Amino acid sequence: MNELLNKRIVLGLSGGIACYKAAELCRALVKAGAQVQVVMTQAATQFITPVTMQALSNQPVFESQWDAREPNNMAHINLTRQADLILVAPASADFMAKLLHGRADDLLSLMCLARPSSTTQLVLAPAMNREMWSHPATKRNVEQLRLDGAHVLGVGSGDQACGETGDGRMLEADEILQDVICLLSPKDLQGKRLLLTAGPTFEALDPVRGLTNRSSGKMGYALAQSAHQRGAQVVLVSGPTHLQVPRGVNVIQVESGQQMHHAVMTHLEESDVFIACAAVADWRALEPATHKLKKNDKQTPPTFELTANPDILAAVCKCEKALSGKLFCVGFAAETENLEQNAKTKLERKGAQVILGNLAQNTLGRDDNTLLWVDAKGTFEIPNNTKAALADEVMKQIAQRLS
Ligand code: C5P
Repeated sequence: MNELLNKRIVLGLSGGIACYKAAELCRALVKAGAQVQVVMTQAATQFITPVTMQALSNQPVFESQWDAREPNNMAHINLTRQADLILVAPASADFMAKLLHGRADDLLSLMCLARPSSTTQLVLAPAMNREMWSHPATKRNVEQLRLDGAHVLGVGSGDQACGETGDGRMLEADEILQDVICLLSPKDLQGKRLLLTAGPTFEALDPVRGLTNRSSGKMGYALAQSAHQRGAQVVLVSGPTHLQVPRGVNVIQVESGQQMHHAVMTHLEESDVFIACAAVADWRALEPATHKLKKNDKQTPPTFELTANPDILAAVCKCEKALSGKLFCVGFAAETENLEQNAKTKLERKGAQVILGNLAQNTLGRDDNTLLWVDAKGTFEIPNNTKAALADEVMKQIAQRLS
């Protein structure tokens, strides 16, 4: 998805071994649709060449405040006036110390100081040795830079290039990309608390076998990510999936429908929106075996008595908070035919404000889908797109109805 389409980003590199990650970051920003202007300090050019960064950004790199390419010779003004964001990655300890004092003796620090702070955000992705990161001087500088309006991102932990292990590694390119998308997203869900379920459930038959379904969890995870980017606090109750939890989203991992039901009910009080996206197994074994079931000599297959799982969405829609209009409830309907009619019936049966209908054969395990929005006012289609783009449209529609 082109989350950064038409966004202009100045990617600044100060000196540090993490400059090698800036190449991948540049690529990720361009892939997300951003126009990227790379600016490097002299120290950064010791670690990675401007040629690499020019090739990846498709723009000549700026390294000096004396660069004569700008007709007025004011690169620090010209390059910052149109930018949505200056991202310094890596931001070295020395570079942050310099910014803190408002010094501007190279092009990148000059640009950070000269940027119009109301329209061009400053984002720093620190990278340094663990001792440097934990030094009181660095801690002081980070705190003051935040007070001065910069967004100082966190750091990663683990093996460092110097051979030591600890905090101070620069975040990975994808993590920085997610944080940048978040900073540039509309904040129409700011202050809202969203609870959602995603993925399949797994209902044990014995300690190694169980009943489950083909849900990948992709739609629910995309909704969680979009809501977080739009400013919501998100709690994601997830069944077993192989997906990476979106940055900034609180996840509660569960296995069975009963566990999912319990987790949802525990968090309802502190939620404004509930979205039931999970494919909860309709039935579970009444008495799952406590030991692995053995094949007996006659090869007689075992039989299981099944019982219904709790209907989480229906239960939530009946709770006092939902009935008094303080909880906006959204459900999904995966159908194989008669989508509109089935979705309308489900809207009534569950008591939700919205049902998002989709055809099971068009969504299970896929990265794209088409949705039918069904509510009391009527029906409209959200046309075929990636699940990320669909999620963004759904969250936009929800935000409009909450405002
Ligand atoms: O008709 P069905 O019960 O499958 O409706 C699907 C909707 O209900 C989905 O939003 C799904 O997440 C939710 N659901 C639930 N708990 C169940 C079954 C379905 O929350 N036990």
